[in-house]
Amino acid sequence: MKIAVAGTGYVGLVTGVCLSELGLNVICVDIDEKKVQTMKNGISPIYEPGLDELMAKNYKCGRLNFTTNYVDAYKDADIVFIGVGTPEREDGSANLDYVFTVCEQISENVQKDCLVVVKSTVPIGTNDKVEEFLKERVKHNVNIEVASNPEFLSQGTAIKDTLYAKRIVIGVESKDAEYKLREVYERFNQPIVVTNRRSAEMIKYASNDFLALKISFINEIANFCEIVGADIEDVTKGMSYDARIGDKFLQAGLGYGGSCFPKDTKALHWLANDNGYEIKTIKATIEVNENQKYKLFRKSKERFGSLKGKKVAVLGLTFKPGTDDLREAPSIPNIRRLLEEKAEIVVYDPVGEDNFKKLFPNEVSYVNTPKEALKDADLVFIFTEWEEIKQISLATYKELMKTPVIFDGRNCYKVQDAAESGIDYYSIGRKEVVQNKMN
Ligand code: UDX
Repeated sequence: MKIAVAGTGYVGLVTGVCLSELGLNVICVDIDEKKVQTMKNGISPIYEPGLDELMAKNYKCGRLNFTTNYVDAYKDADIVFIGVGTPEREDGSANLDYVFTVCEQISENVQKDCLVVVKSTVPIGTNDKVEEFLKERVKHNVNIEVASNPEFLSQGTAIKDTLYAKRIVIGVESKDAEYKLREVYERFNQPIVVTNRRSAEMIKYASNDFLALKISFINEIANFCEIVGADIEDVTKGMSYDARIGDKFLQAGLGYGGSCFPKDTKALHWLANDNGYEIKTIKATIEVNENQKYKLFRKSKERFGSLKGKKVAVLGLTFKPGTDDLREAPSIPNIRRLLEEKAEIVVYDPVGEDNFKKLFPNEVSYVNTPKEALKDADLVFIFTEWEEIKQISLATYKELMKTPVIFDGRNCYKVQDAAESGIDYYSIGRKEVVQNKMN
C-alpha cells in the first residue's frame, strides 16, 4: 500500500511518521523545498519530543520520504491523507483554502483508484464537498472516495497520542473506504469507531469544544472561589474523585490557547450560527476564555496603579509547556497591554524565545535564565508552567526581585508557602497573599 500525506505541520508530519513507524510506506508532501530538505536531514520543522528520532530512523530505512513533487507522490497513491492547516478566518469560520488546493493537486494527478482521507479539522459537511470537488475535477478514469479521520493529538505528546491513541475515528460512506482504513489502522491495536463522515467531523469539534468548555467552566468556578473564599485547587481535587467528572482539563489558569481550542470553538460557533442555531455553552466558553486571559493583568493594575517604568519579568511565553508554539498564547496579548502601559519587560522561556522574537524583535528584553529575568524586577508574571519554572524556589524570587510580587497564571506554588516566604502572591481561584504593599 502506498500512502501520501499532504502537509507536514503537526497533524500531517506526525501522521506520516507514525504510519511509517508501524511499517507502512509513506511519502510526505510539502510545498516548501527548504523544509523538505531539513526533514531529509532528520530535523523536524516543529518542536515535538521524540519526533526527530522517529523521522530519521524511518527515513533511513526507506519507509518514509519527503518531497515537494506532488505529481509523483499522488499519481499512484492508494491513500492520500490531508493534514494541512485550517486556520481561523477573521469572522471565526475555518479557512479551507489549503485543503482545496491539495484536492486540486490530487484530482489532476491521481492515476489509480484512491481514498482521500481528511485528517485536518474541517466544518461538518466539508468531506462531502471535498468528494464532490474531487469527482468533478479528476483527470483520469479512476474512482476517488473521501473519508474523514480526525486527529486527536496534543502538542508535546503527539507521538504517544498517535501511536497509542485512545480511539481511531473513521467517517465513511462505503464499505470499501472502511476496509481500506481498517487495513491501515489494524496495526495500531486501538478501538475504532466507524461512523458516517458528518458524525466523524462532529466528533472532532465536539471533543475539542467539550474540553475547552471544561476549562472555561473551571475558570469561572475559580473566579467565584476568589469571591467567596474557597480554594480552586482543593475544589477540583474534591471533584475529581467522581469518575464521572475526572481530573483532566480542570486546571484553572489564564484560559486555553494553542492552535486548536480557540479556533475550533469559534468555528463551531460560526457554523452553528450559519445554520440558524446557537450553541450557548460554546458561546459562553469563548467569552469566558477571552476575559480570563487578562485576569492577572487587571490585578496588577489594581495593585500598582500605573505600570509605567516598572520592571516586569515574564516567565513562560508558549501556550503550554513542551512546545515552542505561541499560537493564541495568553503571554502575547498580556505583553501587548504591558507595553501600552510602558512597562519595561524582560522575558524568559526555555524554547519559545526564538518564535517570540519574530513577534517582538525589539520591544522586550530576552534573557537566558529565569534568574536574569527576575533580577531587580518589580513584579513577575508566570504565563507557562514549564517544569523548570515551577522548580524556582520562592526564596529565589525574594532574593532577586526588587519587590517580590508574583502574578502566577498557572498556580505553580502553594498559597501557604508564598505566605510563609514573605512574598506577595496573586494566582487563580485562590486567596491573595498581600504583605508588602508599600510600593
Ligand atoms: C488540544 C487537544 O487536547 C487535542 O486533543 C486536539 O487534537 C488539539 O487540541 P493542544 O492544543 O496541543 O491539544 O493542547 P492541550 O494540552 O489540550 O491544551 C490546550 C490549552 O488548554 C493550553 O493552553 C493549556 O494551557 C490549556 N489547559 C489545558 C488549561 O488551561 N487547563 C487544563 O486543565 C488543560
